[in-house]
Amino acid sequence: MKAIVYYNYGSPDVLKCEEIEKPTVGDHEVLIKVRAASVNPLDWRLMRGKPLFARLMIGGLFKPKAARPGVDLAGQVEAVGRNVAQFKPGDDVFGGCRGAFAEYVCAIGDKLALKPANSSFEDAAAVPVAAISALQGLRDKGRIQRGHKVLVDGASGGVGTFAVQIAKSFGAEVTAVCSTRNVHTARSIGADHVIDYTQEDFTQSGQRYDLILAANAYHSIFDYRRALRLDGIYVMAGGGWTQILQAMLLGPLLSLIGSKKMRSFIANINQKDLAFLKDLLEAGKVVPVIDRRYPLRDVAEALRYLEQGHAQGKVVITVEHSNNT
Ligand SMILES: NC(=O)c1ccc[n+]([C@@H]2O[C@H](COP(=O)([O-])OP(=O)(O)OC[C@H]3O[C@@H](n4cnc5c(N)ncnc54)[C@H](OP(=O)(O)O)[C@@H]3O)[C@@H](O)[C@H]2O)c1
Repeated sequence: MKAIVYYNYGSPDVLKCEEIEKPTVGDHEVLIKVRAASVNPLDWRLMRGKPLFARLMIGGLFKPKAARPGVDLAGQVEAVGRNVAQFKPGDDVFGGCRGAFAEYVCAIGDKLALKPANSSFEDAAAVPVAAISALQGLRDKGRIQRGHKVLVDGASGGVGTFAVQIAKSFGAEVTAVCSTRNVHTARSIGADHVIDYTQEDFTQSGQRYDLILAANAYHSIFDYRRALRLDGIYVMAGGGWTQILQAMLLGPLLSLIGSKKMRSFIANINQKDLAFLKDLLEAGKVVPVIDRRYPLRDVAEALRYLEQGHAQGKVVITVEHSNNT
C-alpha cells in the first residue's frame, strides 16, 4: 500500500510517498481503509522534530525511524481485532491514529467512532484533533456555560472554526478574532461579533469576557488576563512559543492571584468526545470549514501550506485507492 514516510527531520521535502506492507490488525485495533485524512500543526512539528521533545514522541533523537505522519482520519473498517466489540467490517468510522497518511492504517478502537451519517469522509476527517481540542478547551478547561461571553482568538484556523461553532452550540455569546479576509467566514459559522485583528486589538478595548479560548495565542498572558471578567478563564490551545511558555509556566502562578484562571492543555482523542461531536455534526450545529484538499501524494504540499499559519479552516487529504487495494 502507499504511505507517507520520513527518515530525517526537516522541511516537507523529507516526506516520501512509498510502497510499504499493509498492516495487520492487533487485538485492540481496527484496520481501516483510509478514505480521507487531515493535517494539523502537530504533523509539521513532528516532521521538523522541533522542539526537541517532539522527537521523543517519534522515538528518534537524531533521526526518526521511518516515521509515519498523520493523526486524523476517516474511512471504512476492513477488519477488527478480537477485543474490539463496537465496530464491524464495513462500518464507516472517524478518529485518530498514528500514520493516517496512508491507504490503510490500524487504529485503537477507543480512538474511533462511527462517522456522522450526514458527513462526507473529507468532512469527518477534518474533525478529530481540531474539534476535540476546541471541545475540551471550551467545556473541560473553560467550563463554558449558556450565556457566557466567549472570545475565540485565532478563530479562522482548524481549531478556531470548530471552537466558534461549538461555543455557539453551548449557548454562548461568541466573539471571533480573525484577519480581514476571514471576517465573512467567522460570521457565517455563527459568531455574534467579529473583531478584525488588523484593525483592532481586543485586549485594549475594555471589553471583558467570561472565557477566552486562544486557538492561536498572539498576545501576552497579561493582555489575555486583563480582558477577562473577574472570575473569567483563559485557555490556551496553541500559539507562538512565547505564549505557550507563558501559559505553561506563568499560568499556574497567575491563577493563584485573584479568581481569574489561566490554563493550557493537551487534547486527548477519545470515543466519547468523538461521539459527542458526531451528534453536533448530525444536528447541523457544527459544519467543518474545509479550506483546501490535496491527494495523498501531495501531503508535503499540504503541510507546506499549513505551516504558513494562515489556513482558513481545515486542510484535507483525499486518499484514492487503486482497484486492487
Ligand atoms: N493543545 C492541544 O492539544 C492542541 C491541539 C490542536 C492544536 N493545537 C495548537 O493550536 C494551534 C492552532 O491549531 P490550528 O489547527 O487551528 O492551526 P491553523 O489552522 O494553522 O491556524 C491558522 C489560523 O491562525 C490564524 N492566525 C494567524 N495569525 C493570527 C493572529 N495574529 N491573530 C489571530 N489569528 C491568527 C490564521 O488566521 P489569519 O490568516 O486570518 O491570520 C489562520 O486562520 C496550533 O499552535 C496547534 O499546534 C494544540
